[in-house]
Amino acid sequence: MSTELKLNFPPNFVWGVATSAYQIEGAWNEDGRTPSIWDHYCRIPGAIANGESGDIACDHYHRYQEDIALMRELGVKAYRFSISWPRIFPSPEQRPNPKGLAFYQRLVEALLAVGITPWITLYHYDLPLWLHKLGGWTNKRILDEFESYTQTVVKALGDRVKNWFIINEPRPIAWLGYGQGVHAPGQRDYEAFLKAAWHLQLTVGKASQAMRSLYRDLVIGTVVDLTAFEPLTSSPEDCAACDRFDQFYNRFYLDPTLKGEYPPLIESLGFEPDVTELKQSFQKLDFIGINYYFRQVVAADQKASLLQGSFIQETSGLTEMGWKIYPAGLTKLLMRFKTEYNNIPVYITENGAAFQDLVDKEGMVQDEDRIAYLRDHLAAAHTALREGVNLKGYFVWSLLDNFEWSRGYSKRFGLVSVDFQSQKRKPKKSFYWYQEIIAANTLKLI
Ligand code: FCB
Repeated sequence: MSTELKLNFPPNFVWGVATSAYQIEGAWNEDGRTPSIWDHYCRIPGAIANGESGDIACDHYHRYQEDIALMRELGVKAYRFSISWPRIFPSPEQRPNPKGLAFYQRLVEALLAVGITPWITLYHYDLPLWLHKLGGWTNKRILDEFESYTQTVVKALGDRVKNWFIINEPRPIAWLGYGQGVHAPGQRDYEAFLKAAWHLQLTVGKASQAMRSLYRDLVIGTVVDLTAFEPLTSSPEDCAACDRFDQFYNRFYLDPTLKGEYPPLIESLGFEPDVTELKQSFQKLDFIGINYYFRQVVAADQKASLLQGSFIQETSGLTEMGWKIYPAGLTKLLMRFKTEYNNIPVYITENGAAFQDLVDKEGMVQDEDRIAYLRDHLAAAHTALREGVNLKGYFVWSLLDNFEWSRGYSKRFGLVSVDFQSQKRKPKKSFYWYQEIIAANTLKLI
């Protein structure tokens, strides 16, 4: 860590918090919304910890004004949230659903009224179930469906909302959802994974083109999750395995999105994309959003299929998710945008941690571990800034404790704690800590 005591951020640095629709909204069947693949997946016995679902979640659909008041108190300049596709296109026949659009119009108006800039994610995992029944991300038809959904949303909000993310995290969508079956829609099918990944890669260019033709002044990017891979030893075998993991988990999504090409590894994956088609749909993005949480150590393993390497389980310095805390990985990953991706503007669109929050006698969550996590990652981001990385902003995951996908409500990432019985919100100590940083535009290291 740096020996400086205070780290100043650039004057226009964007401080924000992030959420996603299914994780906070609830109101799963209100105002015409139909199920998404997550509503469906949550009903499969054993899929989600404690059999939970996002049916009610943080009830943000009804309490968004209270949540905006919290953000105002926090002092964030930006709020990253996602739109629920099945609220907007509940069925093949109904597109759009005016009540669904009206909710996001109210939300945007309320944010703008208190000076918080909305940053919208168009897709954060919650595919309409009816589209899944047509093949979801494995069916090329999704490109037209997503384009038409995008046009509808941008037409409705693009006069007031300028900052857009197209897809949140193509890797979990394709790999966890279609390859590994641990996210909705719960498929374990390698071919389906490859198709989903391909369509997700194509959709970014197509959607951004459609968006720009509606409003020329939009600031358009997309979000990838990145893992910091480290080799177990410095042996050539472990280093090569580590590089394969980096290509498979990181570059397989970054390179087509930012360069219109693929890393060399894909030749051994049984993946034969039509690179000409990728290049035709390729569009230069205004920025890239990265979600960063942890590192993984990799060792060569000839017996392991696909990548000939294995993850080494770490046992200390973990969050409640079992994720290894590794701020230096954030610096390293950020540096790559300067050296390998033409110094594209970068936003850290998610960073945060789940811990077993301890509540003191006054009912305050004393989340010193979360504060330490955020502080060390912000310091790591600042190191990259000093090295000339074009880092423009930082969004904490998350404003509220919320529905953490297959882990249900057991994992809490919020700056604000939520009592899911009463829906009472209470800022944690980290909330006040982040408030000070935003106000001063400075990170104090002591
Ligand atoms: C990311 C997801 C986000 C949240 C965090 C903890 O991968 O984008 O929705 O669940 O992990």
